[in-house]
Amino acid sequence: MTYQLSIDSTCITVITSLPEAEAAASACQACRLCETRKSVVFGDGNPSAKLMIIGESPGLKDDELGVPFVGRAGQLLDKILESVKIDRKEDTYLCNLVKCIPPQNRFPKKDEIEKCRHLLEAQIEFVKPKLIVLAGSSAVTALLDVNDPISRIRGKWFDFKNGAKVMPVFHPSYLLRNESREVGSPKWLMWQDIKEIRRALDSL
Ligand code: URA
Repeated sequence: MTYQLSIDSTCITVITSLPEAEAAASACQACRLCETRKSVVFGDGNPSAKLMIIGESPGLKDDELGVPFVGRAGQLLDKILESVKIDRKEDTYLCNLVKCIPPQNRFPKKDEIEKCRHLLEAQIEFVKPKLIVLAGSSAVTALLDVNDPISRIRGKWFDFKNGAKVMPVFHPSYLLRNESREVGSPKWLMWQDIKEIRRALDSL
C-alpha cells in the first residue's frame, strides 16, 4: 500500500511504510513548530498493536527524549494502562496530533494540526488499529465529527474508518489536576473507561 504524504505545498512524498512516514516526519518543516523543537516525536510502542492512543502534542520531556508520553502525564497513562494489564510497549501504539512540541508547551494551533494531519493519517493507515483512544478534547475535535463536550462523550465507542472503533477519554494531564478518586470523579470515570477498553481488546 502507498500513502501520499504532502510535506509542504511543493513537495509530495510517496510513503509506503511506517518507517518511511517517520523518516519524512524527521525532515518536516511544514509549520513553525520545526523552528523550536528539539526532536520530532513521531510515535512509540508496537506498530502492529490493535490499540492506538492519540494525544495532543509532545511535552517537554517527550521533546527532550523524542518519545511521546514519557513526562508526568505519560507516566500516569502508563499506570492506567498497567492497571488493566495493557503493556504500553507491546499492546499499544502511541502518537500525537502534532509531532513537535509547541513553544511554551501551549496548545497546538489549528493550522499546525492540519499540517501534521497527513502524518497521523499515515500512522493510522499503516498501524491499522482496531481500537483508537483519543486522549483529550483536541484529539476528539481533530478526528471525530462531534461537538459535545468530552465529559459527555468519554467512554463511548464511535465508528471510525476501516471498521475501527474510537473512544474519547479524559487527557491524563487533566487527571493530574484532579486528585479525587470518588465515584463520579474524572479519575473514577477513567477507571471505568480503561476497563471498557480492556473488555473491547479481549473481545477482538
Ligand atoms: N505527551 C504526549 O506525548 N502527548 C500529550 O498529549 C501529552 C504529553
